[in-house]
Amino acid sequence: MSGRESATAFAPASVGNVAVGFDILGFSVDALGDQVTVRRSSVSGVTIVASRGAVSDLPLDPARNTAGRALMAMQEALTLPFGFEVEIDKGIPLASGLGGSAASAAAAVAAANALLDAPCAMVELLQFAMQGEAVASGSRHADNVAPSLYGGLVLTVGIDEPRVKRIPVPTGVRAVIVHPHMFLSTKEARAILKTGVGLSDFVWQTANLAGFISGCYTNDIDLIRASLEDVVIEPQRQSLIPGFAETRAAAMAAGALGCSISGAGPAMFAWALESDAQRVSAAMSAQFATRGIEIDHWVVDLNAAGARLVEP
Ligand code: HSE
Repeated sequence: MSGRESATAFAPASVGNVAVGFDILGFSVDALGDQVTVRRSSVSGVTIVASRGAVSDLPLDPARNTAGRALMAMQEALTLPFGFEVEIDKGIPLASGLGGSAASAAAAVAAANALLDAPCAMVELLQFAMQGEAVASGSRHADNVAPSLYGGLVLTVGIDEPRVKRIPVPTGVRAVIVHPHMFLSTKEARAILKTGVGLSDFVWQTANLAGFISGCYTNDIDLIRASLEDVVIEPQRQSLIPGFAETRAAAMAAGALGCSISGAGPAMFAWALESDAQRVSAAMSAQFATRGIEIDHWVVDLNAAGARLVEP
């Protein structure tokens, strides 16, 4: 028996796609995240009583809120003798490309799980959170939810029956994240994508995904450097981010192993050896500065933890 009346969970931000794994690959970014408190309630269903922090006007209607929808999915799957009362503290800016919608959903299910007499398996929590994430992006995909829940670099294969694999990341590699202060709707950034892929791009992108994952497993920095490149999605979306090409070029010139759009953008990420990471971060930041765009930036570990309970 849990016996717990209330629990608070933190779930980290995340970088979706990681250039080569559109909708299937992502890594957690522990520098920021969302916190959700869930209480047992005598009122059935899901009631969101407060949402505050980095995002002000999120819908409190649970069916239109990623945390609320994820908890509704949990209630639809389980027969619970109580409802959920929810408070959301947003640490991740809206429409930033840093997985804010996913983090709220992940934190909500992690907190609610602590209230259950029979806690769910992680993969069930993932499935609930994916339903929450779909409220924001318009489709179910796990490239943000899975790393936010599990932590680290995570590959998810399948939608209805997801298989989740945490991929090892070579020691000494860091992620650089630069977030320009702009909004880019995920739904819009998905709507512009072509539905077809040319054969040559398909082969190239497949090779890059395989090379990247192999490079991670075998500690092969040269293979990671050769394959961390998106030839399908990035060319279609890069015009949505001012100075993208120059910022990417500056990152590569400063020693990045690869640099691309974080999720649907506008945030960008790069991977770099620890010795180069600060230089890469400065080079990317300088590009946004020359365009008068304010940013936040972080250099983070790629092996951080996922969603976890915290003191409220
Ligand atoms: N894989 C998603 C995309 C991430 O790039 O559209 C944002 O939800």
